[in-house]
Amino acid sequence: STSVSVTSSGPSPVSLPRHRGCPFDPPGAYGALRERGKAARLAFPDGKAGWLLTGYEDVRELLADDRFSSDRIRASSPVRAFPVREDDPRRLGSFIGMDPPEHTRYRRLLSRWFTARRTRELLPRIEGIVAEHLDAMERAGPPADLVRAFAQPIPSLVICELLGVPYADRAAFQAWSATLFRIDEDEEKIFAARDAIWDYMRDLVAAKRRRPDEALLSRLVHAADETDPAAFSDAELTGVGLLLLIAGHETTANMLALGTFALLCHPEQARLVRERPERAGDAVEELLRYLTIVQFGTVRVAREDVEIAGVRVRAGETVVASIAAANRDPARFKAPDDLDITRDATEHIAFGHGVHQCLGQHLARMEMRTGYPALLRRFPTLRLAVPREEVPLRDDMLVYGVHRLPVTWEG
Ligand code: HEM
Repeated sequence: STSVSVTSSGPSPVSLPRHRGCPFDPPGAYGALRERGKAARLAFPDGKAGWLLTGYEDVRELLADDRFSSDRIRASSPVRAFPVREDDPRRLGSFIGMDPPEHTRYRRLLSRWFTARRTRELLPRIEGIVAEHLDAMERAGPPADLVRAFAQPIPSLVICELLGVPYADRAAFQAWSATLFRIDEDEEKIFAARDAIWDYMRDLVAAKRRRPDEALLSRLVHAADETDPAAFSDAELTGVGLLLLIAGHETTANMLALGTFALLCHPEQARLVRERPERAGDAVEELLRYLTIVQFGTVRVAREDVEIAGVRVRAGETVVASIAAANRDPARFKAPDDLDITRDATEHIAFGHGVHQCLGQHLARMEMRTGYPALLRRFPTLRLAVPREEVPLRDDMLVYGVHRLPVTWEG
């Protein structure tokens, strides 16, 4: 009775579901795959076969299991994006693709800068940035593209200030970063963007060494000279800086825009956020769960043969864990396809799970908890300026969201 035909093993694997019926729901095919109760055989664009996990418990188990590696060189990619080459020096410092103990060293050096407590110190500045952008929207008057006026600049300014990256350079690095996140992009363009953004960050790290400031990149450069023998080299720091800059750019901006789109399409939920701003924390968790913008999941490679999700994964096979499907698992969340900000969604895995769980999650939460209620309170009549079918969706990008969100309000 399922709408897709799959074999859980054997000769005809499925490809990763891509087609969305509703802009806020993961592709419908995931539901049918999850109902089968075990991993599905997955075909990768490189011609290899691996596995797709869609159940909440299975996905968490995978992400917590150190028999699976995050090394993207060894993995097949579920979509054509971000090609990595074995001998590429630009992999240095990109700890999202490393395993313990190498990965542990990076997290140890960085996590102190991204704790909930440290992030709270940024709150006044985040509130200021949000207010400035709302003021500018109000001055310009309706209509506006919420992506350009609000969702993109806020996280961009925050991560630039935190790292010490000149915001004035944003046009260049946002374009390179977007190229890296576009799926099915021309390989030559991707490599050109990677070279350009790497050179940009390498030069910035060198500049911080010559003329330090108070921001994070400088502090990490200079920590290296002082105390910690395990501290980063400049090349490692280039990779770290890039990962933070890119992750800080391509994620929260999409949550702010897509989350606003979802709230505008669920007016009773928007009203709750507007009238009860103390609910913003719950609203953010529920929007993270409901929208799970890391749409192609988290990818791991088996280092040895492993039994998981009812199948035997062979050493070297790639497993894709769909956190979007997991966050809609009815075995874990009641009425999972309803957006309900009054539910307890805190167990969602939109930030991943296990050792790679998002380093920037407290920062992202703080930007969203500040951003949604401030926007909805400033513009109580905010609504879409186009029919909802006309909002361009980011189904062509590694991270889901909207390319533009035309909105209007009573001026
Ligand atoms: C890792 C989601 C915002 C930095 C991750 C992972 C997910 C994720 C799912 C795990 C990847 C894996 O297991 O392979 C999100 C979402 C965000 C967000 C949904 C916004 C709503 C941010 C921000 C930053 C950031 C603002 C930068 C400060 C990172 C880093 C990692 C990571 C550095 C790698 C951690 C590691 O490998 O140890 N994120 N992220 N993220 N995120 Fe985020």
